[in-house]
Amino acid sequence: MAFENITVETRGNVGVIALNRPKAMNALCAALISELGQALDAFEADDSIGAVVLTGSEKAFAAGADIKEMASKSYMDVYLANFITDGWERVTKCRKPIVAAVAGFALGGGCEMAMMCDFIIAGDNAKFGQPEITIGTIPGAGGTQRLTRAVGKSKAMEMCLTGRMMDAAEAERAGLVSRIVPVAELLDEAVKAAGKIASLSRPIVMLCKESVNAAFETTLAQGVTFERRLFHSTFSTEDQKEGMAAFVEKRPAAFKNR
Ligand code: CAA
Repeated sequence: MAFENITVETRGNVGVIALNRPKAMNALCAALISELGQALDAFEADDSIGAVVLTGSEKAFAAGADIKEMASKSYMDVYLANFITDGWERVTKCRKPIVAAVAGFALGGGCEMAMMCDFIIAGDNAKFGQPEITIGTIPGAGGTQRLTRAVGKSKAMEMCLTGRMMDAAEAERAGLVSRIVPVAELLDEAVKAAGKIASLSRPIVMLCKESVNAAFETTLAQGVTFERRLFHSTFSTEDQKEGMAAFVEKRPAAFKNR
């Protein structure tokens, strides 16, 4: 597939999508969001792919939704198009895990896109922010919700109300990113993490992702019950038998994704 706003490659069992609008700091225009959806559809349908890495450049993961594209839109334009929901949420619907590898600016919709992924590994030059307030609007792709859940009310409120950016160290302390790596090693580290996931049982990985995500939608009691049901269901798989037998027999597991 030929894309103009992203690049796509595979590294072993990992699909790598890089946002690629260098002249616009990878601003997330409609064409890019559409291409991203197509690339995710293709990786989702490809049995050889077990996980995806979403990245940008060293300078910018993405500096937000495309301001030039949206500046003159009317209320009816954005309302009727359900602007920002449609297309963007494809990332949250992916059943295969998506690791965000974030270097440079992840601002506005860029920060929101990273937070839609399953976890974020940050390059040491990463900067996260929700600067929409400084251009007369508010986050519109989940920033006020996902950032608040990730870092708590005080930090999220300050960032959304002032537009202040967090550097990688602060983002790690706050729990927004799983870890920081030198920017030169970012993609390799993210591919390594995604490769580890891709080497495990596909259905068990998907169940695990579903269970962690339930934590954001349920009470603790409901979430724990949901987890227990999924845990029980793993005992119906060949891969649970294989994984536990391999441990007991002191050999590597050969998962069959069954
Ligand atoms: N949309 C469109 N174009 C953008 C852009 C964006 N979000 N961010 C950067 N660009 C463009 C700039 O206009 C510039 O283009 P020209 O060369 O044609 O002028 C080019 O990218 C390079 O940017 P700068 O010259 O500004 O680079 P810099 O190094 O001085 O600053 C920056 C980098 C701090 C990221 C700055 O570009 C910036 O503040 N960008 C906007 C950040 C922002 O407000 N994001 C929120 C967008 S709204 C949103 O995302 C809504 C939502 O919730 C979904």
